[in-house]
Amino acid sequence: MSSGILELGRRMLYEPSSIALFGEIDPLSIEGDFRRFDSKLHLFAATFPSWIYSLFFRRELEARTRLNDSWLNKRHPTHESDFIRDRASFFFDHPEWFSKKEFGGYQTAIFWGSLGNSIPAVFWCLYYILQDVKAVEAIQQEIDIYLPAFSLEDDASDLLVEDWTLDQLASCIYLDSAVNEILRLVGTPMVMRKCSRETQIGLQDGRTLNLKPNEDVSLFPAVAQLDADIFPEPTKFVFDQFAQKC
Ligand code: HEM
Repeated sequence: MSSGILELGRRMLYEPSSIALFGEIDPLSIEGDFRRFDSKLHLFAATFPSWIYSLFFRRELEARTRLNDSWLNKRHPTHESDFIRDRASFFFDHPEWFSKKEFGGYQTAIFWGSLGNSIPAVFWCLYYILQDVKAVEAIQQEIDIYLPAFSLEDDASDLLVEDWTLDQLASCIYLDSAVNEILRLVGTPMVMRKCSRETQIGLQDGRTLNLKPNEDVSLFPAVAQLDADIFPEPTKFVFDQFAQKC
């Protein structure tokens, strides 16, 4: 049996990431619903009139409802992350602000948020890195040095993974650089905000942007990410672009 690197990335991330964040849930039991919801997420963001969704996206709506309901089985699954535990406690401590239904919806939002961008990011990382022999060599070498190897067959492997520290991970500077470089090449986030009070933003070219309350602000970093004045060959993958070379 074979599958593409998108599916490989999904397999690498979906279950481990969900368990690391949400604790002992059963991610595989909601995977079908996650996939269905994920595949039409852009349409949910389009805010069509509700009858359009009921008429044309009934199966996606049902998948979303099942996902929302799945979080109500257990308030605090064992081994949930601090982030998820504190967040859930906040919801439960304020029933006057959040209904159970809303809690389920917000959990689904975080669940999607934790996977929806990360799975494609893993795909692009594999896509670029595996095609660049020098990148593979440099990254492999630092992983061998800083992150002790273990076998997935080995019962003690969990303990070894727990031994990996953030410092060790941060020592893998080529891996870090390659991931940032890939986000530079393929990431197109658009961050939108409403200005709450009069603000001045100094631009690099000396101009000042004067923002008034209630004005909409949209930041689109991809403009700089692909600017030839900053990155001479903007569309070329340079795996060590962001590595601090001593
Ligand atoms: C490479 C992977 C990821 C990318 C490219 C990405 C990208 C983004 C972007 C562009 C935003 C909008 C920022 C804004 O409007 O201010 C965002 C928001 C958010 N992301 Fe991610 N994300 C990734 C992974 C994750 C993961 C792993 C988690 C959770 C564990 C996560 C949780 C969130 C949350 C909670 C928000 C909303 C923040 C807020 O509105 O205050 N993201 N992400």
